[in-house]
Amino acid sequence: MSGDVIQSSRETAADRGLDQREAPYLDAIVAYAARDPGRFHVPGHKGGEGADPELVAALSEGAFQHDIPAGIEGVDVGPDSPFQRSQRLAAQAWGARRSWFLISGASQGNHAACLALRHAGRKVVAQRNVHSSTVDGIVLAGLEPAFVAPELDAELGIAHCLTPESLARALDRCPDAVAALTVSPTYFGAVADVRGLARVAHERGVPLIVDEAWGAHMRFSQELPDSALECGADLVLSSVHKLFGSLTQSAILHLGRDELIDADVVDRCVTLTESTSPSALLTASLDAARRQAAVRGAKLLAETVAGVERAREAIRGIPGLDVLDERLIGRPGVHDWDPLRLAVDVRRTGSTGIRIAKLMRELDDVNLELESENVIVAVFGAGENAADSATRLVNSLRHAVETLGAEHEPPKRPFTPPPPWGSLELPPREAFFGPQEVIPFAEAVGRVAAESLAAYPPGIPNVLPGERLTQETVDYINEVVEHGGWVRGAVDRSLKTIRVAR
Ligand SMILES: Cc1ncc(COP(=O)(O)O)c(C=O)c1O
Repeated sequence: MSGDVIQSSRETAADRGLDQREAPYLDAIVAYAARDPGRFHVPGHKGGEGADPELVAALSEGAFQHDIPAGIEGVDVGPDSPFQRSQRLAAQAWGARRSWFLISGASQGNHAACLALRHAGRKVVAQRNVHSSTVDGIVLAGLEPAFVAPELDAELGIAHCLTPESLARALDRCPDAVAALTVSPTYFGAVADVRGLARVAHERGVPLIVDEAWGAHMRFSQELPDSALECGADLVLSSVHKLFGSLTQSAILHLGRDELIDADVVDRCVTLTESTSPSALLTASLDAARRQAAVRGAKLLAETVAGVERAREAIRGIPGLDVLDERLIGRPGVHDWDPLRLAVDVRRTGSTGIRIAKLMRELDDVNLELESENVIVAVFGAGENAADSATRLVNSLRHAVETLGAEHEPPKRPFTPPPPWGSLELPPREAFFGPQEVIPFAEAVGRVAAESLAAYPPGIPNVLPGERLTQETVDYINEVVEHGGWVRGAVDRSLKTIRVAR
């Protein structure tokens, strides 16, 4: 996009008169607070008066004055309200037919998307390592998933994306599937061939849902891979707070093509999954982040990406470290790569990412987004002065690697791909809500799980509710834990027990 203000390439009647330089919702709440209204409505802190003074000092008075409820005249009442207009501006900026602001994160969007799909039928094909909120959405909606594995990178011990070929095979094995659920980009910056995935799904008459939680920025710069909407995805989740300047918990659900998904059904499902008191602060932050992205996104991204690139160069020069970069493109499951992400390959240090991340925290108070055995990930947000902030990261990495030298490391477990997951004996919803019991993990083989287990690395769920626990899976999980890995999802984090269907 050149740095110009984004306007939709296919303007609809609803778009006409929209200007990406405006932020109508933000303006409306600022105007409301500025006129010192009689606040005989919630929230009870009444613009800050009733709140704890230290909290007011920490968050500043503005946060309280602008924290207003839904249903205020001139803000979000009526079809042409500033609220509706700000959602239309977001749709235009991201190139969606319609967009919904989410105040419970992309997690809410995954719940809403799964509920919306349930209108079309029960069966879906889902990438095995969808986010846990998608698994929760599957449980909530009573969907019956046929899972398909993403590509595993045995060298790095991480998962990349799903390929169109794998999706085609999975959809052909499950002809009554009503949708395909995928994720792109990954935590590590790998981007899927979304055009290919969309083609495969559409040839079979089903919509492609892309969890683009980590890709809200991609639409706003030509230096970045094309966004999922640009590639023809039907429903796309964008966790704007992760990389594009809105407040934590704010995200957007975008409808791409509407032939395969009914916008009114999505609308109902978004309402069903959200509070009746949506936060004005989160909403205003989405409105403002959209303006920033549309008006200045290309320039901000260019600066941040250049700063991150310089950091990558410096990290390549630290003995034992390398970075994930465009060399990844072309590996199975990596169609493209996001240069805003900084993922560091620590294998040649002889230590683990978990150990290095711990040292960085302890020595320099440097805190990372993700640490795995071989790779650690640092997040940079669009507009961040990465040239400055990355210096602290690079220095801390160097410090940690130098400190490692003197320490004794336990031997690492060679990477082995996880065994195939067990058969789905019960729909996840039935396993989750049905009669259950807690048994020793050692006695779990043959039973049907009522909870999820995902051994890290590589973090692909080994067990999901409704699946039969096999001997190989139980052995694999035990082995990962014995070698210092960990398991996510289990209620009993020590994994002495597991919850199974009775
Ligand atoms: C792929 C993916 N989808 C969805 C989510 C949930 O996003 P949120 O934290 O905005 O609810 C995450 C969170 O990390 C994620 O990584």
